[in-house]
Amino acid sequence: MYTKLWLDYVTDDNGCIVSFDGDLSDNKLIDNAVNELRSCNCLKDLNIVLGFTDDSSLGDEGYRISTSVMGYKIEAYKDTGLIYGAFRFISLYRLSEDKTISVTEVPVNKLRMLNHWDNMDGSIERGYSGNSFFFVNNDLVINERTKDYARILCSLGYNGVVINNVNVKGEACNLINEKFIYKVKELEELFYSYGVKLYLCLNYAAPIEDPDVGSADPLDEKVIKWWEDKFDYIYSIIPRLGGFLVKADSEGRPGPFTYGRTQAEGANLLARAIAPHHGIIIWRCFVYNCQQDWRDLKTDRACAAYDYFHDLDGQFDDNVILQIKNGPMDFQIREPVTPLFGKMPKTNQMIEFQIAQEYTGQQRHVCYLIPWFKEVLGFETYAENAGKNGSKVVDVVSGKTFGYKYSGMCAVTNTGNDENWTGHDLAAANLYGFGRLSFDPSLSSEEIANEWIGLTYGNDEKVRENILKILMMSWPAYEKYSAPLGIGWMVCPAEHYGPDPDGYEYSRWGTYHKATHDTVGLERNSTGTGYSMQYNEPNASMYENVDTTPDELLLFFHKVPYDHVLKSGKTVIQHIYDTHFEGAEDVETMARLWDELNGMIDHNAFKRVFERFEHQLWHSKEWRDVINSYFYRKTLIEDEKGRELY
Ligand code: GCU
Repeated sequence: MYTKLWLDYVTDDNGCIVSFDGDLSDNKLIDNAVNELRSCNCLKDLNIVLGFTDDSSLGDEGYRISTSVMGYKIEAYKDTGLIYGAFRFISLYRLSEDKTISVTEVPVNKLRMLNHWDNMDGSIERGYSGNSFFFVNNDLVINERTKDYARILCSLGYNGVVINNVNVKGEACNLINEKFIYKVKELEELFYSYGVKLYLCLNYAAPIEDPDVGSADPLDEKVIKWWEDKFDYIYSIIPRLGGFLVKADSEGRPGPFTYGRTQAEGANLLARAIAPHHGIIIWRCFVYNCQQDWRDLKTDRACAAYDYFHDLDGQFDDNVILQIKNGPMDFQIREPVTPLFGKMPKTNQMIEFQIAQEYTGQQRHVCYLIPWFKEVLGFETYAENAGKNGSKVVDVVSGKTFGYKYSGMCAVTNTGNDENWTGHDLAAANLYGFGRLSFDPSLSSEEIANEWIGLTYGNDEKVRENILKILMMSWPAYEKYSAPLGIGWMVCPAEHYGPDPDGYEYSRWGTYHKATHDTVGLERNSTGTGYSMQYNEPNASMYENVDTTPDELLLFFHKVPYDHVLKSGKTVIQHIYDTHFEGAEDVETMARLWDELNGMIDHNAFKRVFERFEHQLWHSKEWRDVINSYFYRKTLIEDEKGRELY
């Protein structure tokens, strides 16, 4: 039997007395809410009343939980709110010392989604926790684990899931055909009964395969009709399907550019065909030239999303959402915020993060990403006319800044069929954290971590303290011992794992650091590629100038000599040496903090993380020594502190 993460509370059906104050009338969401509470041993003998309220300020998904001498009351305006409320009650009850619970919670983001990059053959693109639990041998599987996954998502307030890879290949095209559509329907019903909408990725080029159409030109009548018929068919069977996520004109995926059309024309083709069914089209902005000549000094991949999308503001239909990666490159340990945020007032946007640790240790290193996501969400975009609505990224993607009809947050998920779901036990903090953060971005990283630790490992103070320290140290540590000062991409290209400083330097991917014997970094200001000018003022001026660019992004924006002095007072080269030594030492500290928990938590759980730390201890030193030696050999500058360089 696999671990059920923080839902591991169901021990028998000897729970509490739950009454429902309303008309049950065959409502699966309410059934599930009631069952969840009843089967929860820790609530034994409590009186809990579930019911509707006419307080519409709770919206479809909010809830209110209160405590009285009679027991507990969970109220919501809609059934989805009730099931979220039921799960939240269980968490709060388990975490609370005095068992008095009084909260009203309404999600801040309209869309709170996970994207699976699961392939139908069972593999997962950039998956680090086993194979897919949705797909096995080109079949769609629905079992107890699927149900537990729906419960996990609901327990955190996620309300959407995309089950297949954005790179739609082979059999996956069949998900919207007769072969699988009824299974997809069954899955949709399961997720729906836990408040989660199902979405699929589709292949934009699908009509090319149809001999009667042979094209994917968005303005071609036959193509338009093909998609209309397709969506009519799909929605006649699955009327509540949320919609589709599309990767087009990207990394070899076909798209509207093939036909000389814009991204808006491509997205609107699908949006118009799906509109009668109230579906949405989530259109990714990860569009760039992945066939760049490294000798070409003008092209800058960082500029691409803005260049392709910014001028199309207002041209997308209102059931299109642009899904934009947090940074302009690709989920590096540190990047600036994509400049499209705060620059497209008339186009729905949502932000895409990655909790699959593709470039952040692949769930073999611990790397709690919530502090990083908080920094991104807290970035001030200085959007024009935002007024009192605010113009931080968090305001833009919650729809506040511009009053978007659809918006929100999604993450590429880190789950798989490994017994513990996420490969590294501590990576579950990211799955938990992203759900909570997208529900309520005002929560601090520590608050989220504390909740997760309490629900997963119990309330022992020492356990809580040590794991919290580990989590909070982990992202900064990874940044320290990997690529420095925002430069990114010093990773092995094949697997995106382990150090390889020049691995991407002479490649076609547009990912360069340009280190020479006397300078390092890229000039991305107005005298360089012009990327810094894509931001609103005063951000544009801040990044324009070496002196005002924050240290942690210096090499992303500027080419500087190794003896350039950072705001910290250190030279660039000394910063590189120091951080790499520190980062590896931080891993020793984290491993020690974990070792102290031996005997205090479940032995197998202890051992699993212990073993990951053994690897991380070695691998962080490998990173340290390869990167430091690389720069030492380039510069021949000795470490001020006389430490060994190779
Ligand atoms: C990264 C990742 C790919 C993925 C792509 C995407 O480049 O390495 O595997 O397909 O992002 O976001 O589409």
